[in-house]
Amino acid sequence: SPEQPMAAEHWTKFVNEPDTDWSLPHNPQWIESVLSKWKDRCDILDTGSGETRESTDPSRPGVVVCRYSVPTLADVQAAVETATAAQADWSQTSLQHRHDLLRRVAQNLRERRGDLIATMVADGGKTVLEADPEVSEAIDFCEFYPLTVEHWYRQASVKLEPRGNVAVVTPWNFPLAIPCGGIAAALAAGNCVLLKPASETVLVAWHLCQAFWDAGVPKDVLQFVPCAGRVAEAGLVKNPQIETVILTGGTSTAKRMLSVRSDLHLLAETGGKNATIVTSMADRDLAVKHVVQSAFGHSGQKCSATSLLLLENDVFDDTTFRDMLADAVSSIRVGSSWDLSTKMGPLIKPPQAELNQGLKSLDDDESWLVVPEHIVDNPNLYRPGVKWNIRPGSFTHLTELFGPVLGVMRFSRLEEAIEIVRSTGYGLTSGLESLDDREITLWRDSVHAGNLYINRPTTGAIVLRQPFGGVGLSAYGPGVKAGGPHYVLPLMRVTDGKQSV
Ligand code: ALA
Repeated sequence: SPEQPMAAEHWTKFVNEPDTDWSLPHNPQWIESVLSKWKDRCDILDTGSGETRESTDPSRPGVVVCRYSVPTLADVQAAVETATAAQADWSQTSLQHRHDLLRRVAQNLRERRGDLIATMVADGGKTVLEADPEVSEAIDFCEFYPLTVEHWYRQASVKLEPRGNVAVVTPWNFPLAIPCGGIAAALAAGNCVLLKPASETVLVAWHLCQAFWDAGVPKDVLQFVPCAGRVAEAGLVKNPQIETVILTGGTSTAKRMLSVRSDLHLLAETGGKNATIVTSMADRDLAVKHVVQSAFGHSGQKCSATSLLLLENDVFDDTTFRDMLADAVSSIRVGSSWDLSTKMGPLIKPPQAELNQGLKSLDDDESWLVVPEHIVDNPNLYRPGVKWNIRPGSFTHLTELFGPVLGVMRFSRLEEAIEIVRSTGYGLTSGLESLDDREITLWRDSVHAGNLYINRPTTGAIVLRQPFGGVGLSAYGPGVKAGGPHYVLPLMRVTDGKQSV
């Protein structure tokens, strides 16, 4: 990552939470027994005075996993008033107190790992293998951000104060870790939070909030507002009592927020059209492994996913490499996320506009190396596809598809590949597969992306080790990275006086 690490003194105590070790036989047994309890469960949530909405299981369309009442505009406006009233007391709490609370939240998340995984399987269609690291990341955010606030408090010769109410607006693809990160950062910095989760994964977000409330975070300091998008726009984004919006979502959503409120303090991490470049100096076996993981983990529904594979001419023409890629993709086990052997679960919903086009049509010169196939009986379930020989400037080169389609292009020189990456306009993650130091240096110094990964997958950033965030169309606002030391800074303002820690 181009972001330089800070002097480490205030987070030397920080240790990343380990994921579950599935090679130990009792762990698969444990999660199977947790999942079996959730399979027939349907939670009823009283979360507003509007209509009741149902959230369904992407692996089993039609199966309702939760019913919740949607907050109306009046509910949201009242919630903002409540937060404003609570802000005075919350901003006066000591960092020590907020840190203790967040440590307790982390402990709750640890103890509830199995249930949280189950909510992500049921509501988000995530496989267990993909859901498990989200719990680790959520725990990391709670443990890490208070340490970074402490660091800045101690460094600053000025007083740092909370800015005020933060609306955290989050997507369905990381339904636990992303909301947890926004909430933990905002609370650690002393702000009240209103969480507006994606409507597809309200169940996950609700259980996340429970972990905060059960730890002792007051209910008026963290409020849950699973309202419709247009209500969030009127009640949160346009509301002058909302000081900051933390958004993880589409580039168009960030642009829309800024168009309805031009002075909005927005911290947004948006889309990506991420490429992995494989040069003739790569370990080709490893490159296939990394690309398959980056492109098809969570069915390609990650902003960090590799969706372009740029191959240097001799790799492109290497039939052994091509066959290895085709075999690796065709043999991915696709199915229900309730099944532990599934590697690729369903899409969150049937493919819409761009993804539909990406799955179905080819431009001139393109062909399918692997045809993406719909699996009957579930409109959300697709086998992954690989589109061969896409051209610079084409639909597949430039459009974020957010699904299981990988486009393969050829290039002659590394500089040309770097330009192909830049021309997407996005700049979130980027991968290079090469064992050559000069290529690595050239690429690292000139590729347009926030997170650079060399000889490893482009997904799965780990708190502190790979602070996560983009450039270009992939980010709006101060450009601080999630899971990095600077993330909390724009959630505070400088005032007169001296900091007490
Ligand atoms: N932070 C997520 C990842 O790195 C998006 O995959």
